[in-house]
Amino acid sequence: MTKLQACLFDLDGVIVDTAVYHYKAWKRLANELRFDFSEQQNEQLKGISRMDSLELILGWGGVTISEAEKLDLATRKNNWYVEMITQMKPEEILPGVREFLTILKGAGYKTALGSASKNSGIILEKVGLADLFDAVIDGNSVTASKPDPEVFLKGAEALGVAPEACVVFEDAIAGVEAAKAGRMKVVGIGVPEVLKEADIVIPGLHVMSLEKLAALNRS
Ligand code: BG6
Ligand code: MG
Repeated sequence: MTKLQACLFDLDGVIVDTAVYHYKAWKRLANELRFDFSEQQNEQLKGISRMDSLELILGWGGVTISEAEKLDLATRKNNWYVEMITQMKPEEILPGVREFLTILKGAGYKTALGSASKNSGIILEKVGLADLFDAVIDGNSVTASKPDPEVFLKGAEALGVAPEACVVFEDAIAGVEAAKAGRMKVVGIGVPEVLKEADIVIPGLHVMSLEKLAALNRS
């Protein structure tokens, strides 16, 4: 078995809780189109690209529009979202994230971000975490959305590490599937009933440790 050498992190829901900002912006858009959608439906948007999310939302609202109108709506939603994330502060980093990234560095592991978001650069800068990642692969550098493994395979490549030597930290079902399709170990962030395919599931990075990482080597 290949020894684990690198950790790849999803952003939204693993490093920071931006799901609430995505929800507010999508809800505003849906409401302007005269329909609403629930927080439960919002769960289905986790890990899904901006345009794929819009398609789902328009489907829920029974709205049929042209491709040009879709692009316009996605841009409006993103402008509202960016207004919110530019106000983000380091206090919004999820518990244990900075500490675990620092421990990984000290232990010689490489780290990368593997996110569907095209806004990851702004978020990392606003919360002050950019320096803790050796590589950032996000929605600007991939063509296929999770559950396709492209984002994580590109992350492994950027770090110069074989996929089998990588562990992915993910909160979305699509992200767990992407990591598995990339032949990587997966630590699910959430609950085991939802993230069934993950090798282990923890509530957050505040309970992650080098010991738990080493145990994955043996699983
Ligand atoms: C993912 C989120 O990380 O990024 C999704 O979980 C979001 O909800 C996707 O749609 C794309 O984000 P952005 O910032 O490019 O619109
Ligand atoms: Mg996520």
